[in-house]
Amino acid sequence: MIRLDKYLADMGIGTRQEVKRYIRKGQVLVNGQKVISPETKIREGEDEVSMEGRQITYASYEYYMLNKPAGVVSATEDAREVTVIDLIRDKKRKDLFPVGRLDKDTEGLLLITNDGQLSHILTSPKHHVDKTYYAKVQGCVTEEDVEIFAQGVNIGTNDEEEWTRPGILKIIKSGEESEILLTIQEGKYHQVKRMFEAVDKEVIYLRRESMGELKLDKNLKPGEYRALTEKELEGVRR
Ligand code: URA
Repeated sequence: MIRLDKYLADMGIGTRQEVKRYIRKGQVLVNGQKVISPETKIREGEDEVSMEGRQITYASYEYYMLNKPAGVVSATEDAREVTVIDLIRDKKRKDLFPVGRLDKDTEGLLLITNDGQLSHILTSPKHHVDKTYYAKVQGCVTEEDVEIFAQGVNIGTNDEEEWTRPGILKIIKSGEESEILLTIQEGKYHQVKRMFEAVDKEVIYLRRESMGELKLDKNLKPGEYRALTEKELEGVRR
């Protein structure tokens, strides 16, 4: 059970003060009846709430797959920059956040939700969730790099070592400019870029392809998103 004003505010109808005003003015119906008390308790999923002829269904949790475009920051709010949350135009909830961060210039799979428990499972290093990245790399990626990455790489500075866990590097194309897939289970700051720096190469394009069982939908162009399917949700929860 949830208060009517919270129900409406959670679904992005307005601030708590605004929705209280709508309710008091008689703009909100519960099961077809005008209800003017903001404290009225609503049974989510059972009571029918509507406002100006529009039914408002309650969503406790929302899950979106975004193909993050370059140039957008992985934050919930930013005074100057467009955030990944700004891109989710049909969101109901106001408490959405990105699960993990991608750099501003990185593209690809980003899960957007308000489910903190699921986010913790997917991002905590304890849970060893595979993240696979496609990258274009300046320089010739070799089998030696594959072996180095398989051992774990020191991405620290001269003063302080910082070792990654083993990563699985697959070479798609090797040459002056190489193409690779890299699977890692951590999310250290700029990890993929720093792993290639450690072998004297530079990542010039980076896209996340998958996170655990969740794969980037090839139909989503950068900047596009869709809700997760039930099947995908079961997969990420597993
Ligand atoms: N590794 C990086 O270097 N950048 C990202 O955005 C993600 C992983």
